[in-house]
Amino acid sequence: MHPQSYIHSIFLLILTLITATQFITCAAGAAAAAGIAVVEPPAIRGINYEKNLEKNAARRKLVNLRNKNLADMAKGDGDGEPKVKELKYFREPGVAAAGHYDGRFYIGFVTDIERQRTLRHLIRAWLQWTQNQGIETWLAHGTLLGWWWNNQILPWDTDLDVQLSEATLKTLAENFNMTTWSYNFEEENFQRDYLLDINPYWVSRLRGTSANLIDGRWIDKSTGLFIDITGLSETHGVTRPGVVSCKNLHRYKLEEIYPLRTVKFEEFKAYIPNLYEKVIIKEYRSRAFTATEFEKHEWQPAVGAWIPKTTFEPETSLYIRNGKKIQIKVEDPRGLEAVPRPTGWELFWRVFYW
Ligand SMILES: *[C@@H]1O[C@H](CO)[C@@H](O)[C@H](O)[C@H]1NC(C)=O
Repeated sequence: MHPQSYIHSIFLLILTLITATQFITCAAGAAAAAGIAVVEPPAIRGINYEKNLEKNAARRKLVNLRNKNLADMAKGDGDGEPKVKELKYFREPGVAAAGHYDGRFYIGFVTDIERQRTLRHLIRAWLQWTQNQGIETWLAHGTLLGWWWNNQILPWDTDLDVQLSEATLKTLAENFNMTTWSYNFEEENFQRDYLLDINPYWVSRLRGTSANLIDGRWIDKSTGLFIDITGLSETHGVTRPGVVSCKNLHRYKLEEIYPLRTVKFEEFKAYIPNLYEKVIIKEYRSRAFTATEFEKHEWQPAVGAWIPKTTFEPETSLYIRNGKKIQIKVEDPRGLEAVPRPTGWELFWRVFYW
């Protein structure tokens, strides 16, 4: 062998090793990097929001009047427990497994593609709208985890989660309940109406009968898919100062949440809790950062995305001249040349064919 070709091979070997190590450390690297890297968010995009403010304002007055009584009822006697038996406010369709559709707008299950598209725009519209109105909200639960992996919704998610402070929740309840917002994402020719609906039981901040753990929904009126909105309150100011929790008893120290960090999510500017890794680990354990197979998807570092596990047949069958069926690997770049060499036994049988 020429010395040159030696050098060439060694060079190639080193290159391969470097690539391989990069590959292996990628998943771990993502975790480590997430701790340091501050994601530069893009400027908030100009969507065509049809600001139907007047229409909404008029509607709001009516609705708030009508609901004052209900809210008073829910408020109860001060220890957070409602006086009257707590009815569940949000309804899901009476179909098993349709728990992620709002009962009022459900007309049937949507396809995976449609669901993903709908959810993507649901969150974009929410981010856009809250930022326009100066409303503070951040990503939570599975939605936050989706951000951690690749700034996107986890493809198997069926709903989304955001959180906000009790004060912000109050603002929404008092000023924006039952308002509809028209959204037009021209790039994808995507138009939808979103309804903001705040649970009147938001006023009781304890778990109660657990019929009303969710404080609000941002609902896609065409499909019934929604974002769950939950407020965090300091429920035990004396015994647990500086600790806020939602009605489903997820607890956070204030410094885990604030100051919020600015990130990019589904191409839009979004906010996440300050100590997001701690928040994620508390809820999902560290496995959330290491498991690379989940819900029939696998994490592919090269693509930087969760890809559905393939049900794709890697082999295809062909009939060749002698009528025999052979199998070749579909992705084999050698194509037909990849046909395996006949075994001695096969050669023997060919005598009878020809
Ligand atoms: C919001 O409006 C709906 C519909 O009128 C009502 O049932 C609900 O109680 C309202 N929520 C609040 C917080 O007032």
